[in-house]
Amino acid sequence: MRSRVSLGSFAELIPGHARIIALAGGRSVIVVLSKEGVRAFMNECKHLPTPLNVYGEDPIVDGALLCRSHGARYTLEEGMCFSGPCRGKFLDAVHVDRQGDQLSALVEIPEVYVEEES
Ligand code: FES
Repeated sequence: MRSRVSLGSFAELIPGHARIIALAGGRSVIVVLSKEGVRAFMNECKHLPTPLNVYGEDPIVDGALLCRSHGARYTLEEGMCFSGPCRGKFLDAVHVDRQGDQLSALVEIPEVYVEEES
């Protein structure tokens, strides 16, 4: 099931720092301000299904997204792995909608987290 999730304020995005938006089920979205504008990706490495910032730190290091587990590095613009064990693969991009200062996205929420009516 797809649900609309707030990604926060555009004006409060800081170049060189990522915003992490927690979702139901322990997943999260990374929002960054790249040279080409706002980008968002599912926070799940393409080497193994783990968050890039497994220890809770900012995943942007030296202008790229870094997976702390085994060192994969991804571009901010496309989420393309250019270094590490999943070289050539892409993070799952999340389309960002902007209304004024507010950012949001439609993201997939696992069915198990959707409340059923009784
Ligand atoms: S899990 Fe990300 S590089 Fe291995």
